[in-house]
Amino acid sequence: MQTQTQVIGISLLCDLQGKIIEVIRNDLESDRPILKGQLFTAIFDKASLDKTFGFLTELRTQEAAFDWVLTLLVSDKLTPLHFVGSMSNNQLFIVGAKTLSDIDSYFYDELMKLNNEQINAFRQVMKDHQKLSVQTRDRDNQFYDELTQLNSDLAATQRELARKNHELEQQKQELKSLNQALSTTIEMLEKTRNELVQSEKMASLGRLVSGFAHEINTPIGIAVTSSSMITQAGEKINEMLSQDEVSEMELVANIGKMVEGSKLTYSNVRRAAELVTSFKRTSIDQTQETKRLFTLHETIQDIIVSLDSKFHQTNIMVENQCSTHINIYGYPGIISQILNNLLINSIIHGFEGGTLAGNIVIHVQQEDNTVLMTYSDTGKGMNEEVVDRLFEPFYTTKRANGGTGLGMYICYNLVTTRLNGNISCESTLGEGAIFHVSFPIETVL
Ligand SMILES: Nc1ncnc2c1ncn2[C@@H]1O[C@H](COP(=O)(O)OP(=O)(O)OP(=O)(O)O)[C@@H](O)[C@H]1O
Ligand SMILES: [Mg+2]
Repeated sequence: MQTQTQVIGISLLCDLQGKIIEVIRNDLESDRPILKGQLFTAIFDKASLDKTFGFLTELRTQEAAFDWVLTLLVSDKLTPLHFVGSMSNNQLFIVGAKTLSDIDSYFYDELMKLNNEQINAFRQVMKDHQKLSVQTRDRDNQFYDELTQLNSDLAATQRELARKNHELEQQKQELKSLNQALSTTIEMLEKTRNELVQSEKMASLGRLVSGFAHEINTPIGIAVTSSSMITQAGEKINEMLSQDEVSEMELVANIGKMVEGSKLTYSNVRRAAELVTSFKRTSIDQTQETKRLFTLHETIQDIIVSLDSKFHQTNIMVENQCSTHINIYGYPGIISQILNNLLINSIIHGFEGGTLAGNIVIHVQQEDNTVLMTYSDTGKGMNEEVVDRLFEPFYTTKRANGGTGLGMYICYNLVTTRLNGNISCESTLGEGAIFHVSFPIETVL
């Protein structure tokens, strides 16, 4: 039998065990009879048995089940039917139809066939279930929205990450080229520095040579003039001797000129020779000394003793405060040369040629592998200009008294180039002078 709406279906009331209590409607021409008292599961094809149990279980546990497709044999054909059901008062109301949309109208039609009490109870179950599914749907929607949001956030983060990565790569490239530029700059600076050192060396050599030329010019000039004076006087004497009469007075005068001229020539040539000797001392590399192990205290003591004749008649006290444990493998002659210059300077300049009284202290100590020497005198000291120019070649305040101004220049070169150390001076006029000398030492065990 078919309904007016052409919906083909089945509606049943079962107990909780799934036994059919009432067949409300059946327009299926099922191959098996659908009868009251029969089990609901028995009306289906065997292949659908598991699913049928699943439908019943959901119906019992959830009090409702929606859209289960279960297969029946209808006119020898396996026919899938959509099933819905609800549970109330220990009864199961089950409706099946060929399509899901049929179910919607069909279910309520069939529901109307139940008694009022049953209708209300089943309706309530359906309503509750629908509400629940709406909530679930809302929750699903919300979840989906959140998921979508998360997804787009993730995509944005990925895009940001890619952008940052790109930026980083760019920065890396910039750093790389900066690094390269820096290396090139350092190379250039190194080259410029070497060039500067080279040109400073040349300039210093130039200053030295021109200073030397200037210094030697005066005695040589005087020697040239006086030797020509001798020549003239000699010629005059020659001329006089070739004449019949010789004036004795004139002869004596010319001989006197010759003697004077030769004295002047001698003293100036000697001065030039001295200058050459001191100048030679500036080429410190000429020191032909072999390296040896020596005790610094002894070397200092030796130099003080060697200058005894100079200190003998003065009131200058020299004190050797060098630690007795400093053993050096090197050139004691260099140390002697440095100290000799410092001591002679103290006598000549600090104590005005030994006419003033005072003290000289040579204090030396070793720190790690460095020798620290403090040389001090209590003499006249120096003004600022002298301190500033002290180490310049040919700088002297005693030119008239035979000073060449090479002593400190030689000391400076010996300390810096032969000992690989440093020398500096601090002094105030009237308050003595202090020299600091430091250099690394080589020791042998
Ligand atoms: N201990 C000192 N006290 C005061 N002045 C000093 C002392 N040592 C050096 N000077 C000053 O420094 C100048 C330069 O000294 P430096 O030894 O180079 O030349 P010099 O002694 O004048 O000549 P040279 O040593 O060539 O004979 C001196 O002329 C002097 O004015
Ligand atoms: Mg000197």
